[in-house]
Amino acid sequence: MEDVLLTNKLTKKYGSRLCVSEVSMNIKKGDIYGFIGKNGAGKTTTIKMISGLTKPTAGEITLFGEKNLSKGRCKVGTVIEAPAFVPHLSARDNMYIQWKLLSGQHENVIDETLSLVGLKDVGKKKARDFSLGMKQRLGIGMALMGDPEFLVLDEPVNGLDPEGIVQVRSLLKDLNENRGVTIFISSHLLNELSRLANRYGIINNGRLIDEFSISELETRCKSHLDIKVDDTARALSVLKEACSNAELKLVEGTDTIEVHGYDGRPGELTKILAVNDIFVESVTKSKVDLEDYFMSVVGGEN
Ligand SMILES: Nc1ncnc2c1ncn2[C@@H]1O[C@H](COP(=O)(O)OP(=O)(O)O)[C@@H](O)[C@H]1O
Ligand SMILES: [Mg+2]
Repeated sequence: MEDVLLTNKLTKKYGSRLCVSEVSMNIKKGDIYGFIGKNGAGKTTTIKMISGLTKPTAGEITLFGEKNLSKGRCKVGTVIEAPAFVPHLSARDNMYIQWKLLSGQHENVIDETLSLVGLKDVGKKKARDFSLGMKQRLGIGMALMGDPEFLVLDEPVNGLDPEGIVQVRSLLKDLNENRGVTIFISSHLLNELSRLANRYGIINNGRLIDEFSISELETRCKSHLDIKVDDTARALSVLKEACSNAELKLVEGTDTIEVHGYDGRPGELTKILAVNDIFVESVTKSKVDLEDYFMSVVGGEN
């Protein structure tokens, strides 16, 4: 897969303070890359360097295989912190300005994009009177005027209500799946992000301490089955026979058996138990929890 972004030991110091330290990351075409870290970890600073808003102290950035960033940055759309719109203008007028500045496309693209970001029907309402979610969607819409192949978003769902979060998430999914836009998104709302991203990087104290895909996360989180039965002793001996490779654990004080490392279908186990006259009350697959994993890597409060 083509690399959209490569950074090599990207570093930022403010005075003697090291805020981002030797961050080397790679984002491939089609990725939704979740960039996670606590407040103050260095997310915004990294994003500002990538989008050219601040100069790295050291290290390199490659965009679309090019070290010449002015070329690569034409294909990048960015929304950092509060989206930069003109407060007393409407959504359409803000988009128009951005279209004039960035777009080589037909003016129709303004109304198409307004509908894409769900702001087609807001009329003359001034951008300053928008809800936070509308402001975020306007910011994303304005970034889309440059027809970007790579969208870089800093905490786009921060402070949004649940409805706003769902709208931004489905907009980003749509851009990624239907328009092939690669997305780099920072967030500290991990369970929200885990519904969107396919790859992740964890930044802590300015260092990129971990990078993984969603399937690596599933392996690392040791996703398992919980089987609740009426007779745990007999169920254990039946399961031991049936799946000798799996690890079985009785959850203390319950009627539940955890099955780790079984890669067959859960229904097979239910069937074997039933044939042996053991009543199966429920079978559930444990969920992968990005928040738990993040805590186990980074520690402390998020
Ligand atoms: N302009 C600046 N001058 C001095 N320190 C800064 C500046 N911008 C950010 N920092 C510091 O860099 C660290 C990382 O900040 P930031 O990138 O905003 O983190 P995040 O976005 O993950 O919350 C913080 O300790 C912050 O105080
Ligand atoms: Mg930030």
